[in-house]
Order: sequence, then structure tokens, then C-alpha cells
Amino acid sequence: MGVKQQIKAIVPQRVWKLLQRNKANIKLASYYSGQRKRFLNNCAGQWNDERFEQLRGTMVYYIHRIEKGLSHKHFRSGFGRSAFIELKAMMERWRELGYPVDDVTYHAAQNVVRAYVHKHRAIGKQIPQFVSEWFADEVASADKACGNEGNAGVKIVRASDKLDNKTKNYATLFAQRTSVREYAGTPVNMQAVHDAIALSMKTPSVCNRQAYRILLVQNPKLIEHALKLQGGWRGYDMPPLLALISVDVRSFVSVEERNEPYIDGGLFTMAFLTALEYESLASCPLNTMMRKQQEHDIRNLLGIPDYEVLIAFVAIGNFPESIESPISFRYKPEIITRELR
Ligand SMILES: Cc1cc2nc3c(=O)[nH]c(=O)nc-3n(C[C@H](O)[C@H](O)[C@H](O)COP(=O)(O)O)c2cc1C
Repeated sequence: MGVKQQIKAIVPQRVWKLLQRNKANIKLASYYSGQRKRFLNNCAGQWNDERFEQLRGTMVYYIHRIEKGLSHKHFRSGFGRSAFIELKAMMERWRELGYPVDDVTYHAAQNVVRAYVHKHRAIGKQIPQFVSEWFADEVASADKACGNEGNAGVKIVRASDKLDNKTKNYATLFAQRTSVREYAGTPVNMQAVHDAIALSMKTPSVCNRQAYRILLVQNPKLIEHALKLQGGWRGYDMPPLLALISVDVRSFVSVEERNEPYIDGGLFTMAFLTALEYESLASCPLNTMMRKQQEHDIRNLLGIPDYEVLIAFVAIGNFPESIESPISFRYKPEIITRELR
């Protein structure tokens, strides 16, 4: 018998469990400390914003904010001053640091300004002075072809293109899925949602734990309250259905598995989004990256137990006849792929 087993055999079970808990606590503190350092040293916080990847990430964040504003059904001309302040600062820093101006992200930043100009011109609205002043080159070249033309702005999504989703092959279905934040005013077919959940059960999970949980909220008051707390749904009408994906940590056995709920929950979320698309339902994943009080309030509102971690909300509805949606450009696979031979 090993020493560990000998000690286990001698000490009372209650004491043994306490020792194991303390050991796990110390290990967790050390793991989280490492995670904290990695994030602090490398994330795109303002203290790291001179570096290429961080600058690129932040630039995409502001490009996307502007794209969302451009896609609104209830379009607010002249919107976005605070996002443009940041975008301008990012682009200037990019140039000062000598980063390539033929980079796809830099092009997207230019193109989102051009899309903004286009949209205002198309509806006969004046381009706000802050855009004309800060982005004179992009305003002047708004009608010209440019690198990565059209990789930022909005695209049209049509319900008629989604009718035969069940006959599409995987590549087509996956490529055509996009986040939709405005829905037709018709009720959602709940059977189709349950079918999508059934399909998503094929999601792989660590040692087949299948600890993901999904809450379907149809009550309009609860949806409104939850999305107000969530904070990432400003300016849109409420979706007819809101799902919350969580993962039950009670299925995880060791402290080394501490991040797995997020992996399994993320995989389930992607499977569910694709399954909704297959069912010809429009959807948009929504973050659960909340401050303490926000999370506390959401848990209370929706009755989410403490042993579940929150993964993502998913707004769900029927595709409207035609709607604009952010382009949300994608990098070329070469940018994210590394190979060791
Ligand atoms: C985990 C996660 C959280 C997200 N949170 C939000 C959100 O709070 N609000 C929002 O409008 N979109 C949100 N999105 C949608 C992204 O903006 C969108 O997926 C991204 O721009 C790519 O576009 P696509 O889904 O149309 O391909 C989220 C997406 C993911 C995966």
C-alpha cells in the first residue's frame, strides 16, 4: 500500500476529506494565480495597447461596435462618436508604430468608416463633422475600390434564403450562419428549438460529462429584464425567446478540470447555434461576461443555482423578411494556423 493509501486508511474519513479540500484549494489558488498573470500581462487592456495583437483586437472591437450601429433597423444617424474617438486613436497609434496599413484589420477600420459614409449618403443624412474631420481620407475615398473592399459594414440577411436550410450541406449551412439581432414578429416554433437542443446533444464533452444545461425563457418581462442586465442588447427589440446556456460544475472531478465547463459549454453553444440555423431559426449568442452584481441579479432573476457557471445567452427568433447584419469579417486561416513538422 502506498503512503497516501496508508494515511487514508488511518485518518478518519472526515479529516481525509478536509485535507483533500485544503490541497485542492491551494492548487486552485496557484492555478488561478498563473491564469491571472497570463491575462494581466497579455490581454488588450490599456496598459498593453502598444502591441500589435492587442491593438488589432481592440480595433476589431470598435469596428464591430460601429457595424452593429450601422445594422440597426431603427438607424440613428450620426451615431458612434465615442467609438470613432477610439477607432481614430487606434488607427493613429497603428501608423505611428509602423504596423502595416495593408493589414486586413486596418482595412476593415477604414472600410467601416466608408460604410458609415455610404449609409448616411444613401438615406440623405449629413455625415457628422467628427467623421469628416477625423477620417478625411476615408470619407474622400468612400466610393473608391480599396484593399479588402467590403470587409466591414453590413450585409443583408433574408428569410427566403433560410427556408431550405435542412437541405444544405454542412459547409454551406455553417458558412451562411450569421448573428441576427432583429426578428420577425411571429412566435417561435418551440418544437424546432427542442429539435435543435436534441441535435446539440451530440456535442462532445470532457470524458462525456455532458454537464451543459439550457434554460429557455419565453416570458417577455423576464427576457427584457435579463437582457437589460446582460447589457449587450441595447437598441434592439426584445427577442421572442431567450436561452441561457450554463454548465453544472458538479460533474467535474479534479481542480485540473476547472476550465472545462467553459470549453464544454462553448462547444455546446456552437452546436446549438448551428442546429438553430439548421432549423431555420435566427439567433445571436450573447456574452455572460458580467460584473459580480450583474451576475448575482441574473442568477436571482432566472433561478440559476450557484453550482452552474454561465456560458452564454442565445437570443432566438424567426428571420425577418430582410434585415441588415454586421459583416463581421473573418481572418484568413493562415493567420491563425501554426504547424510543427
Ligand atoms: C460568446 C459570445 C458572446 C457574444 N456576445 C454578444 C453580445 O453581447 N451582443 C451582441 O450583439 N453580439 C454578441 N456576440 C455576437 C458576435 O458579435 C458575433 O458572433 C461575431 O461578430 C461574429 O459574427 P457572426 O456571429 O455573425 O458570424 C457574441 C458572440 C459570442 C460567440
